[in-house]
Amino acid sequence: MVTSRIAVLGRGTVSAGEPVLRGDDLGVLRGDGLFETMHLRDGRPWLRDEHLARLTRSADAIELTLPPRAVLVGLLDAVRAGWPTEVEGALRLVCTRGPEDGGPPTVYATLTEVAAASRRARATGITIATLPYGVPAEARIALDWLPAGVKSTSYAVSTAARRWARRAGVDDVLWVSSDGYALEGPSANLVWVTDGTLCTVPAARTGILPGTTAAWLLAHAADVGLDAAERMVTPAELHEADGVWLSSSVRGLAEVTALDGRPRSRSPHTAPLQKLVGFPVPEQPDPAPDAG
Ligand SMILES: Cc1ncc(COP(=O)(O)O)c(C=O)c1O
Repeated sequence: MVTSRIAVLGRGTVSAGEPVLRGDDLGVLRGDGLFETMHLRDGRPWLRDEHLARLTRSADAIELTLPPRAVLVGLLDAVRAGWPTEVEGALRLVCTRGPEDGGPPTVYATLTEVAAASRRARATGITIATLPYGVPAEARIALDWLPAGVKSTSYAVSTAARRWARRAGVDDVLWVSSDGYALEGPSANLVWVTDGTLCTVPAARTGILPGTTAAWLLAHAADVGLDAAERMVTPAELHEADGVWLSSSVRGLAEVTALDGRPRSRSPHTAPLQKLVGFPVPEQPDPAPDAG
């Protein structure tokens, strides 16, 4: 296990146990902040510019002033300097509103090794269950006061969904709108293949997070002989799809092997898509010995 690292704006790298935030930081008190998580592969943050672009859009949406881009890039470079290139990393960039008395935003980067469970999920796939989101699919985007598609540090709803998944005995969750459309997971986008088309849910229509991984996959779908489209989809339609995955920056592409308790056979599209997106897939674990 490689030791985790932290780099703080204005202080450089600090040891992982050093205090970074003030107790009255609004990021802590209110969840008033933004973050991005990138996949560090071969020592470099994959899709860094796309993540920084989303961070900038999010900052505009919540009226948070970010340091100049070059400063953010410098912070990312500081935290990854000397990281062993063969070790996959989860590189997080965090910008909170800062102290309650109006101090400047708190900006720091963390780097940790990708968790074994995330790597394993690329090979074994994941079981998921649908969970009601409680509002129509287009409700959030219709509210002009509510910033949509922002990667906020307010993850109370996501962590509640995660706890629900644990209690329900599934690996992850797929939120479904009150009018019956699949939206996204608590930290991943939905991607599926139907009739030769690689699809994801339109963020601009639903207010879900526009995922960097899903966008990259759709932009490169032709390389594996697939068309690409943004579509609305129901869980019933997903049961009939030729492959269903959750995509995100660190776990990468995890095939859904069971949806609401209904097992899915492995998709022939998984291996080409995994190769395309380039997250290392660990060797398939040995099949369980035959009990009979
Ligand atoms: C709610 C939500 N949706 C989707 C994603 C996937 O986005 P990305 O592929 O940019 O990691 C995330 C990532 O953390 C997320 O939190």
